[in-house]
Amino acid sequence: MSRIETLLSKMTLREKLGQLNMVASGYAVTGPLLGGDSPDAIRSGDIGNLLNMVGVDHVNEVQRIAVEESRLGIPLLLGFDVIHGHKTAFPVPLAEAAMFDRAAWARTARIAAVEAWNDGLALTFAPMIDVSRDLRWGRIVESAGEDSWLNAEMAIAKVKGFQGSDLSAIGSIAATAKHFCAYGAPVAGREYASVDISDRALHEIYLPPFEAAVKAGVAAIMPAFNSLAGMPMTAHEPLLKGWLRDKLGFDGVIISDYNAVAELLNHGVAGDLAEAAALSLRAGVDIDMVSNAYRKHLPEALSRGLITMAEIDACVGRVLALKERLGLFDQPYRRGTAPLAAMAGKIDHHEVARDAARKSCVLLTNYNEALPLTRTERIALIGPLADAQADMRGPWGGASVAEDSITLRTSLGKVATVVAQAEGVKISSDDMSGIATAVEAARIADTVVLCLGETAPMSGEAASRAHPELPGKQRELAEAILALGKKVVVVLFAGRPLTLPWLFHKASAVLMAWWPGEQAGPAIGDLLMGEESPSGRLPVSWPDAVGQAPLYYEQYPTGRPFNPNDHYTSKYIDAPNAPAFPFGHGLTYGAFSLSGLKVSKTVFGPNDTIEVSATVVNTGKRAAQETVFLFTHDLVASLSRPLLELRGFAKISLDPGQSGTVTIALAARDLAFPGRDLQPVLEAGDFEIKLGSSARRSQLLNTRVTLKL
Ligand code: BGC
Repeated sequence: MSRIETLLSKMTLREKLGQLNMVASGYAVTGPLLGGDSPDAIRSGDIGNLLNMVGVDHVNEVQRIAVEESRLGIPLLLGFDVIHGHKTAFPVPLAEAAMFDRAAWARTARIAAVEAWNDGLALTFAPMIDVSRDLRWGRIVESAGEDSWLNAEMAIAKVKGFQGSDLSAIGSIAATAKHFCAYGAPVAGREYASVDISDRALHEIYLPPFEAAVKAGVAAIMPAFNSLAGMPMTAHEPLLKGWLRDKLGFDGVIISDYNAVAELLNHGVAGDLAEAAALSLRAGVDIDMVSNAYRKHLPEALSRGLITMAEIDACVGRVLALKERLGLFDQPYRRGTAPLAAMAGKIDHHEVARDAARKSCVLLTNYNEALPLTRTERIALIGPLADAQADMRGPWGGASVAEDSITLRTSLGKVATVVAQAEGVKISSDDMSGIATAVEAARIADTVVLCLGETAPMSGEAASRAHPELPGKQRELAEAILALGKKVVVVLFAGRPLTLPWLFHKASAVLMAWWPGEQAGPAIGDLLMGEESPSGRLPVSWPDAVGQAPLYYEQYPTGRPFNPNDHYTSKYIDAPNAPAFPFGHGLTYGAFSLSGLKVSKTVFGPNDTIEVSATVVNTGKRAAQETVFLFTHDLVASLSRPLLELRGFAKISLDPGQSGTVTIALAARDLAFPGRDLQPVLEAGDFEIKLGSSARRSQLLNTRVTLKL
């Protein structure tokens, strides 16, 4: 018998349910805090998994109780939300997506894993791969943005980064793909609201990132809080059991979201906790995060015949298998024993954080080459985000501490001539009394660097906004400064696009910094001063007005495409159709021309891969990196197909006057889509292949290829 079979044969029902139970924990001077339980619950086998305990000493203390004082000595599984760094705070995931850099995505995940491992942890609740197309929804900040293919690419890189090739190796932690599924499409962008999307959207947009994560070997999956077409995801048997387990063969662990099993009562699909527990267990959820419904009510569900012991055993087996893969049985105290430097291969984590922050900022506008700044330019640093140290990490700061974040106020003076500083207003307050002082500070400078935005908690979980604009009196501050007629460079901090058309028209330049992490100030300083050219690209279409939401480039055609001369065509009468900035937009300090689009074959078969290439020339005055996107369009198919679908990207760094070639591979199978029966289908016919520097269709190079079956 295997270790797991042997254990299962010895376990009491109570011990089995303990393995399906995850408890929120922490640490106080008096010892471990266990969500209402005492450490005795670990001794008795009632708790098999913990979240939120960090620190190797604390972890080993509770692990010792499990391993040395419980009857069967089964180790605990300790998980934590390592979302964008652990001790070292990297840019938030939406910002990281803007890097369009698979190696960088994997690198930050690896470093986060190494730091978390060193802190005693074995599991993270990341990556979050919810396609997010609505700027109102606060958790857009945790995602890779609006595109399904991009979320899938980032999922693969993150899973590899967290898990490595061996979960039991030093520095590897188990990843959790979340939130399954379609959590990013709540009605009207309101957090935790229901989701009602078509089966087509589900299969085409929301499921593929999870399929990619499963194929990349993700260890765990977390169902979303939401209901989907009336069925809460925590009890969604067709998708959890049918799609994930049976169709994809996912045999890892499914962990409920926080208290989500008990919330099945609020959803109105269970009359009591025994029913709720049975519904989610039968759907395939192995671990109940904090609701205690499994531990306390599955015995009743068993006696009422709502579930069977075989179903419980299957869940316990999967949890034990994950603990085994993580090496917890063999070396329960191993985490935290390797020196950090040895694990990270002498990589300086702060340097990686600075590099990631630089790569993720997106230069939205830059009129008359307002940026970069010169060393002699006399700068006034103004605005409430110039020194908002606690906000720089953004939501889900993990185990990082605010004091480690470096603001522009601390760092800009070291590389630029800062002659005045003023806060002006608070981020979110009605007090305008500081505006006059800020205007006086601006008067003595040549240039104003104006730092505006949200507070970090204004995005993230439970942070939907109906007015995604500048909070408080920041607009009043900005307008008073802009009225001076000086060069005003805005650095914008937020976890989502903000609708600020007035600012984009009036400011000399706007740099979107998102939440850049601990190295915010130095990284932004590098970009402002031209030490490095901005290279980030928007992973979301940036709306001009909130009424455009949900906004995304991957639109289906309409029978009445917009025609300014025809009233009865698809449009708003009070806003443009186009975003303020399209998906993929991002300026650099270079200037690029793209030409000579070529494909290696114009007629190809279902097993072929074609190479799409073009020449890029830096016609600007400074070295910079261009990002080129590959989109496809299926011209005539059995169903309407989107006008653009992202299928690849490439980056190229060029000096002024230098030219180079970008080449992107496109496999015929990447042109498949869910057919009328929702099964993947590849249809013969003509496809447009488009290359360009963003999803702005009018600027894409275009050619045609033919797929023959
Ligand atoms: C969030 C999850 C998170 C969990 C544990 C929930 O509220 O939705 O994303 O992993 O808490 O902290």
